[in-house]
Amino acid sequence: MYLSLLLIVAGVLGAACAGDQSVLAPVSEQSGRIARLWWVMFWLGVAVYLVVMGLLLFALFRRRGDDGERGGGRWDSGLVLGGGIALPAVVIAVLFLLTLSDMSVLGRSASSDALRIEVTGHQFWWEVRYPDLGVVTANEIYVPTDRPVVLRLTSKDVIHSFWVPRLHGKVDLNPGSTNELIFTADAPGTYRGQCAEFCGIQHAFMRMLVVAQDEAAFQLWAREQREPAPRPLTEQTIKGEQVFLGSACVYCHAVQGTAASGRIGPDLTHIASRRTLGAGTVTNNRGNLAGWILNPQSIKPGNKMPPTSLSGPELQALLDYVETLE
Ligand code: CUA
Repeated sequence: MYLSLLLIVAGVLGAACAGDQSVLAPVSEQSGRIARLWWVMFWLGVAVYLVVMGLLLFALFRRRGDDGERGGGRWDSGLVLGGGIALPAVVIAVLFLLTLSDMSVLGRSASSDALRIEVTGHQFWWEVRYPDLGVVTANEIYVPTDRPVVLRLTSKDVIHSFWVPRLHGKVDLNPGSTNELIFTADAPGTYRGQCAEFCGIQHAFMRMLVVAQDEAAFQLWAREQREPAPRPLTEQTIKGEQVFLGSACVYCHAVQGTAASGRIGPDLTHIASRRTLGAGTVTNNRGNLAGWILNPQSIKPGNKMPPTSLSGPELQALLDYVETLE
């Protein structure tokens, strides 16, 4: 009994303290509904648990006073019928009705001013396209606040599941079909998410960030992302661009404004503006970038990028160039 209570308390505290990835800290109407239903179920569970434990103690206590007389009679059969049939039926019916009401909200189609974003799952990263804005990015999804967002979810390879707990529930990304997920972020902030369907050995490192900003900041971001890569101006960055264009990078990666147009890996036009590398595996800084370029398998084993063989000066020039891709 104490152990199960302890587990419940630990579970609630754990979920509540997970901060920017907590189901219990909703920032949209959709996740608010899910959290509310969760709390109703939680407190009903607590009430049922306490009642059952109370009855158990009562039974133990009463037995001791008995003079060998068996239980039975009207009170006991009333308890069985009421507590064993009527009460569970009422509890389940209430939960069912609440669930139906929440499902009708979660299943509502988006209004016409909604922002459409196409999210494609890959082993092991997220491709993000804004068809109406001409923006392509990866692993970080920028959205405006107070405006509905429609994510159109599909997958290139295996089944993934999109889950940003503070914004909505889980929705699968299946190869060959498209699922929709609609939410409106109520507050600006950065909300963490995680692939929620086992998709291979780097499933746990398939994270995503949703960055919600007010409409003006979002439009500014979109304008910057739409720009092609700046032309390299210094001797070092010109050399870096040549290293990039002359290596195997271009078969998988695109940099708008150059001849590189691969679509197997993330679009790198604005990679320097992203916070992480490898879908949330490591922070995006010069050291991690160098390690990733030379041997991505040492950072995220199992991902699809092969090692690149470069001399020291070539690597430094390439890093200088990539740092201009803001
Ligand atoms: Cu993608 Cu798990």
